[in-house]
Amino acid sequence: MKQTTTPANTAKIGNFSPNILGNKRINIAIDGHAGCGKSTTAKQLARRLGYVYIDTGAMYRIVTWVFLRDGIPFDQENPQMLESLKAMEIDFVHNMEKGLCDIRLNGVVMDQEIRTPEISANVSPVSIHKAVREAMVEKQQQIAANKGVVMDGRDIGTVVLPHAELKVFMTADVAVRAKRRLAEMEKKGLAVSYEEVLFNLKERDRIDSTRAESPLKQADDAIVLDTTHLHIDDQVEKVLEWAKEKMSN
Ligand code: DC
Repeated sequence: MKQTTTPANTAKIGNFSPNILGNKRINIAIDGHAGCGKSTTAKQLARRLGYVYIDTGAMYRIVTWVFLRDGIPFDQENPQMLESLKAMEIDFVHNMEKGLCDIRLNGVVMDQEIRTPEISANVSPVSIHKAVREAMVEKQQQIAANKGVVMDGRDIGTVVLPHAELKVFMTADVAVRAKRRLAEMEKKGLAVSYEEVLFNLKERDRIDSTRAESPLKQADDAIVLDTTHLHIDDQVEKVLEWAKEKMSN
């Protein structure tokens, strides 16, 4: 973990709102299956629009990291879990150098430690709990209140931002997703096999789609984007086109 004390190159996201195109500010909700390029697309889109990118999966990953660190059971809701959630201050600060937000837990920037196979294997079981979801959704809705946000996750278009002007539901063939995710992890030096990655993606999709609390599902008014045969640049261009259309309406 890197300690940060909000240096000169960061700003609380409420203070960061340049809209470079000068059009109507909208909110963009991107949902979909694990590993189909949601965050890569959302990041590039936010950069191009001068919007704030909010990675809601990172919030659930932080909760999982804390529960594992503190030995808090998460097979069912319990008082320790509720106490821990109350003590967690998760926020986003704009990092001018990166042109993106850092996510922080109690003032400390969290990054690679929440992207490990261990966190990936435990995050879906943690995310099924109502108390966990309520705490995260409240924060997400506060952040998006001023518009100009690109938010990705599983329940953004259905629960968090049901009135988002643009909703995209991303998917891709699971074998293609596993290959892309494996390449990313290998680049970071993480030792993991194709079979493990494939199993994790399938298992997360299964748990995320079948849970009782705000399961992953396509919002009725979402546009489906299948990225199986798309290059990342084309993905971004497509969503950017849809966004510009909504911004000019
Ligand atoms: O986007 P990601 O793969 O980093 O998300 C990790 C997990 O967090 C995902 O498998 C389920 C959970 N999640 C969720 O339940 N709701 C969200 N809005 C975002 C993520």
